[in-house]
Order: sequence, then structure tokens, then C-alpha cells
Amino acid sequence: MGDSCRIKVGIIGGSGFEDPSLFENQVEKEVTTPFGKPSDVLVEGVTKGVPCVFLSRHGRKHQLQPSDINYRANIWALKEAGCTHILATTATGSLVEDYKPGELVILDDFIDRTWGRPCTFYNNTEGGPRGVCHLPMKPAFCERARQAMITAARARACRFHETGTAVVIQGPRFSSRAESLMHRQWGGHLVNMTTVPEVVLAKEAGLSYAAVALVTDYDCWRQNEESVSVGEVMAMFAKNMKTTTTLIMDAIQVLNAETDFQYLEEHKKTLAGSIMLKE
Ligand code: ADE
Repeated sequence: MGDSCRIKVGIIGGSGFEDPSLFENQVEKEVTTPFGKPSDVLVEGVTKGVPCVFLSRHGRKHQLQPSDINYRANIWALKEAGCTHILATTATGSLVEDYKPGELVILDDFIDRTWGRPCTFYNNTEGGPRGVCHLPMKPAFCERARQAMITAARARACRFHETGTAVVIQGPRFSSRAESLMHRQWGGHLVNMTTVPEVVLAKEAGLSYAAVALVTDYDCWRQNEESVSVGEVMAMFAKNMKTTTTLIMDAIQVLNAETDFQYLEEHKKTLAGSIMLKE
């Protein structure tokens, strides 16, 4: 990390954000972790003086379905690479009329409908941390990183929402209509397949994590409308790729322009206070 820069930002690119040529001096690094291999190589580089690391969540050939992603290896690898922050993108369906396809949402909460995904580093894995970790999930996302994304979105005058709750389903299938209606009743604004356990593990790693969701479809709850399809999701992402990338790159500069990084220590304190360990 350059002496003048106090942050290093990991970028996790979701569906449609698979091939970054975002940085100067890009170097690919193949790494492994105590939890196995991440989804793909880490692409290290610099943007306007800020060191960054890009990782494709599904792999650059989109070879991994949501429940086969090694979320632990992904987050561990970014932490080992020295990242202080992670900014993520995610394609999402909308569960409410007001969150329209093409709009961006800075997520602030989630409802977990996934199962069987390893969702803690604290399970006595060789080379991993010791103890049992009971992490608070309020707030789920780092408020400072969220605010950086909001500042970036305002400055570009893009259509976006400052908050949104994502219902995270197991996938790889989309929801049934009855499930979609239920997710609406639960208070979800959006639905996707990957925010959990990514956000949980980033917090367990003591990192600052925020995610920008691109609304790609209306799922399947609307009367007299076609159900979501993968073609629709990818087409909408491709169309809005530039806006999403720009928001992430601008947010990195907003984070770097700040002078008070005490919040990064607070994340570490929250983690330390969540671990039960008998000597
Ligand atoms: N990702 C994009 N659209 C989605 C939807 N409708 N359900 C789950 N994940 C999605």
C-alpha cells in the first residue's frame, strides 16, 4: 500500500461485472486461504492513487452458482491482501413498485433465506481464528461505506435509493410467485442470491463493507407480467454496467478523501467483543 493512502479497497463484482479493466498497473494474483480458494484470481491495481483489489464473485467465466461460491475464501483473501474496505455490486429483483429496473439501491439490511452455506470463520478451521463468534447484525452494512456510495450517487445524479432490504434466497432458481408475495409481506424491497453470507463474513473479518444493488427486474409478484428471466437480468446489468462501475470508483475516492478512519477501529472492536473464547 502506498504511504500516502490509508485505505485499500476490495471490489466484489457480481453478475454482469465480471471483467474489470478498471485499474492502472493491473496484476493478477492466484491465492489460496485456510478456507480454500476464492472464486477467481485477485486483480490488484490502483485507481487515482488508491490501491484496490478486484474479485469476480461468480468467477470471470460466471462458473459458480450462488450456493457454490466460497464466500469465506473470497473475504479472507481480500483481507489477507490488506483490504480495509469491500465495495460490492449485486443484481437484484425488485419486490416493490417504487424500486424500478435500472435503478440503484445502497443496501442497508437483509433477510436471510439461504441454507447450508458456511457463514462463519469461527469453526476451528486449521489456520482460521479460534473461539465462537456471535456478531451483531445491526447495522448489517458499514454506514460510512454506505454514505460514501450515497455521496457518489448524488454527485452523478443517478436514480437511486438510499436504503433497501434484500431478501437473500438460496437459488439457483428464482422465487415462486407465492414466495415472492411472501417476501413482499416480510418487508423486503429486493431479492437476490448472494448478499448472505458475504456481508456477514466481511463483518466477521472486521472490514468496512457496503453493496450497491442494481435492480434488474420485478421478480414475479406483479399481476399479468412475465416472470423474471436470466436474459432480462443480464441485459439490464449490461445496460447499467457503466453507472454501477462509476458509482463504485467514485465511492472509493469519497472514502479516500475522508480524514477520520476511527470507524475502521470500531469495526474491529465490535468483532473482538463478539468472540467467546475459553483459554
Ligand atoms: N437477481 C436478479 N434478479 C433476481 C430475482 N428476481 N431473484 C433473485 N435473484 C435475482
